[in-house]
This record gives sequence, C-alpha cells and structure tokens, in this order.
Amino acid sequence: MSVRIEEEPMSRLDAHGGVPIAFLVERILTVSVIDGGLGGITLAELNVDSPWVKDYDAIKGEGPTRWPKRFDTSNWGLIAAYEDEIRIGGAVVAFNSPGLEMLDGRRDLACLWDLRVQPDSRSTGVGATVFRAVEGWSRRRGCRTLKVETQNINFPACRFYARMGCSLGAINRFAYPGLPEETQLLWFKELG
Ligand SMILES: CC(C)(COP(=O)(O)OP(=O)(O)OC[C@H]1O[C@@H](n2cnc3c(N)ncnc32)[C@H](O)[C@@H]1OP(=O)(O)O)[C@@H](O)C(=O)NCCC(=O)NCCS
Repeated sequence: MSVRIEEEPMSRLDAHGGVPIAFLVERILTVSVIDGGLGGITLAELNVDSPWVKDYDAIKGEGPTRWPKRFDTSNWGLIAAYEDEIRIGGAVVAFNSPGLEMLDGRRDLACLWDLRVQPDSRSTGVGATVFRAVEGWSRRRGCRTLKVETQNINFPACRFYARMGCSLGAINRFAYPGLPEETQLLWFKELG
C-alpha cells in the first residue's frame, strides 16, 4: 500500500473526525498494585469475556471539531494519511498551547493528542507512517519529547506505542473519576 502524508490546517479537523476512532476492546492490561504500591504496579494482559466497543468521539463534548472551542489550537498540527484520494488515517499534535496541562509547561514537548486509522486499513503500517510524520513535525518545532496518553483498555494502542519506541512513564489509576475501571497510561518518546 502506498501512503501519502499531508500536513493540513486545523480547519480540516472535521475531515479528520470522519475517520472512526472506535475500537473493539477484546484484551486489556489489568493493573495490580503490590503492597499498596511499595512493591510497584504491574500490568498483565487479559482477554475480556464480553468484548465491547470503545468510541472516544461518542463521549459528550468530545470529538475533533470541539477542540478549537476548548483549547488554543493555533500552534497545533494536523497530519493526514491518504491512499490515492481516500483519507485512511491521521493525527493531531498539541504543541505550544499555554495552560494545556498535558504539555507540562514545556515548549520542547509535543503531545500526540489523537491518532486514528480507518478500521479497514489498521495493522497495515499506516499508524506507524503517521507516527513517524508526527515525530518529524515535532522535531522541526524544536521538541525533544513526544508524549502520548492512552488507557489500559486500549491494548492495540499500548502495543503500538511500545513498538514505536515509546516508554511508559506514568500509570494513573485515578485519572478518570467517571471511569474508575480505566487507568491512564502516559507514554514518552525522546526525539533525540
Ligand atoms: C492504534 C492504531 C492507530 C495503530 O495503527 P495501525 O495502522 O493499526 O498500526 P500499524 O499497522 O502501523 O502497526 C505498527 C505496530 O504496532 C503494533 N500493533 C498495531 N496494532 C496492533 C494490535 N492490534 N495488536 C498488537 N500490536 C499491534 C505492531 O507491533 C505493529 O508492528 P508490526 O506489524 O511490525 O508488528 C490503530 O489501531 C487505531 O486507529 N486504533 C483506534 C484508534 C486508537 O485507539 N487510537 C489511539 C488512541 S490513544
């Protein structure tokens, strides 16, 4: 498959949102706390008995077209992947957005805010191509670190980020008070 990468203006977020982000939760990483945390926190793969569909866009108030209303996205990036003229994936990168907690007050850190590939095109290398484009975009803006948030229920994404050279930097079991069964995982990649 020949994938073409394009940088687009944020005004194309609606097209980005046309690529589904939903995925089937068939396997998760269970989180266990040893000796109240003094023995560490372990993650273990587990197949779920009754798989379910998780769709971040379906959460009220969420979805790509909402972001410019909620955040200062003037320095953010939008990267799209095309096969011929068909949009098959893309990513949004948050950068230099004053007050955005995920950026840790750093000007040399970019956050991979969103990454999605058309379901029919997943597991064919599209995500990796987009991820490399995100790395390049971030490096060109002087970033030394790329940060990514995902959850323990997104097993494919966890495997994907590990394969892309990211390292798990933080496990926050209490990040989502409304979703106590989900744990926040923060991944980091030093861009060199
Ligand atoms: C996560 C996602 C972007 C990965 O994109 P992709 O195009 O399917 O991934 P690639 O084909 O480029 O895979 C690259 C590597 O990631 C790993 N990987 C990807 N999907 C995987 C899966 N389902 N299970 C295990 N490993 C997987 C593999 O190691 C793969 O490399 P390999 O084929 O050489 O072994 C894609 O699955 C997706 O769109 N998911 C739904 C949206 C989402 O969850 N986004 C992330 C939110 S944090």
